[in-house]
Amino acid sequence: MSEQLSRREFLASAAVGVAAARARDIPFPMRPPQPLPPSRWAAKPVAVSSANGLRAVQKAFDMLLQGADTLDAVIEGVKIQELDPNDDSVGYGGLPNADGVVQLDASCMHGPSKRAGAVGALEGIKTPSEVAKLVLKYTNHIFLVGEGAKRFALQYGFKEEDLLTPHAREVWLHWRANLNPTDDYLDVPETQDMSVRPTGTINCDAVTPQGDISSVTTTSGLAFKIPGRVGDSPIIGAGQYTDNDVGAAGSTGRGESNIKVCGAFLTVEFMRRSMKPTDACLETLKRVVQLTEPRLLGPDGKPKFSLNFYAVNKRGEFGAASLYPGSYAAHDGKEAKLRDTAYLYERPAASR
Ligand code: GLY
Repeated sequence: MSEQLSRREFLASAAVGVAAARARDIPFPMRPPQPLPPSRWAAKPVAVSSANGLRAVQKAFDMLLQGADTLDAVIEGVKIQELDPNDDSVGYGGLPNADGVVQLDASCMHGPSKRAGAVGALEGIKTPSEVAKLVLKYTNHIFLVGEGAKRFALQYGFKEEDLLTPHAREVWLHWRANLNPTDDYLDVPETQDMSVRPTGTINCDAVTPQGDISSVTTTSGLAFKIPGRVGDSPIIGAGQYTDNDVGAAGSTGRGESNIKVCGAFLTVEFMRRSMKPTDACLETLKRVVQLTEPRLLGPDGKPKFSLNFYAVNKRGEFGAASLYPGSYAAHDGKEAKLRDTAYLYERPAASR
């Protein structure tokens, strides 16, 4: 070891071999890993995600330290949820549309190359985030939907699979039975409140030690949606957005309310005007409330839905905000843990 090479630098360079080996596990990597010795870090590496992304931020952060590309890191992070049958808001195991068919949406942006990719209403493929990455990497387009998106995925070696798990089928059948008291499906005892439909999703945003930024959002969308509906997740500027000079942002929650304010783009624009990530997320939520139609507001004027924004900036600062108290996952260099979001309103006691 040369006298100039610190122990940390030596360990970082020794990690190159390990990282190169692991890179072979990443399908279609954006680039081979390039670990950076800590003395040359330009930014504080960080990974931020929605509350279901604790494993995602751990995975993404580990990959950032191994020198992985920023987009490869966030995609490998969210794939954990996409492949998990127990997360019924994302990928395999996601709740289906009104016809009982799982239709998935995803989008991503890669700061260093200024590229974007997305898929909407994709059926039969467990990991739409990866397909969005392939649209970004290998095509002149940004957004593929439906049958074309599936054919595209199959051409790259993805397997078509049944995404409806027994649990998701049971929840869907229960919803359908209780939908209309006059239809031919007999109501089943209402063991759960089906009036509030889940809108889970996962967003993950990361900054590498080089200061490169990426974002990805992937979802099975609003449960029992009208077939063909796409939400905010696959829409660049709504579900997620990255500007490598500024930062990245993403969203989970009621997609229709986010689409109208181009929330991820708006959050990045607020950060461009020097707002901290948390303040930028809160400001975007205020815009959402301004643009909410009366039918979606309670008697107290507060939204009857949930919506969350997550953000990181170029320096590795991060934050999140939601309409009502919530949590999000972040790895800040020390540990991956859940933190409280900033929020606009305490939920009124009457609506609990
Ligand atoms: N935010 C997810 C959706 O509305 O589909």
